[in-house]
Amino acid sequence: MKNIVVLVSGGGTNLQALIDAEKRGEIKGGKITCVISSKPDVYALERAKQNGISTRTIPRKEYADVSSYTKAVTDALIDEKADLVVYAGFMTILDEQVVKAFPYKMMNVHPALIPSFCGKGFYGLHVHEAVLESGVKLTGATVHFVTEVCDGGPIILQGAVPVMNGDTPEVLQKRVMEQAEWKLLPKAVSLFCEDKIRIENGKAIVEDAQ
Ligand code: GAR
Repeated sequence: MKNIVVLVSGGGTNLQALIDAEKRGEIKGGKITCVISSKPDVYALERAKQNGISTRTIPRKEYADVSSYTKAVTDALIDEKADLVVYAGFMTILDEQVVKAFPYKMMNVHPALIPSFCGKGFYGLHVHEAVLESGVKLTGATVHFVTEVCDGGPIILQGAVPVMNGDTPEVLQKRVMEQAEWKLLPKAVSLFCEDKIRIENGKAIVEDAQ
């Protein structure tokens, strides 16, 4: 069984999707063993506690810089014996120390079709605001490995979601979560835990991808 550690910063609906998938037996070969939050008192921590999952809070604002914060998170991940680290609405940038400690063992869910609407400043509702501003008719979600490049690691799974007339950022966010994020993230986690993802020439090759 692989130990899955989930990093969160907010409401934790993606964490909930992982918990629900695990309960349905859909995370084959893995178990969520710890949830780590960059903020105290977020609802994601409550979701973990309600499901008997141990939690740690490592508040970003208690650290002077990215490097000291990354070291604290990396040490916690090592201590937790993480086999897979999942960024599920984790809004804090970590530097290369954690990538070196967990190479191709960390994945992130991003609420757009990378390489569009991603990189620094594109997070949460800002992504959907930018999508609506641009006028594109399709958006979606991407699950990718975390590397030193923000939102630039090998893509594991993507799903497209239509943009509709009259969408607000909130309405579009909900559709992207329901139709893409909450399905793709548990699937990618399970594929990883089943050793069905490999890296070739900097790309993720996924067996059984649908
Ligand atoms: C999700 O839409 C996630 O994709 C996004 O923030 C939201 C968190 O919601 N993440 C990013 O924008 C990271 N760049 P949640 O806390 O309910 O899972």
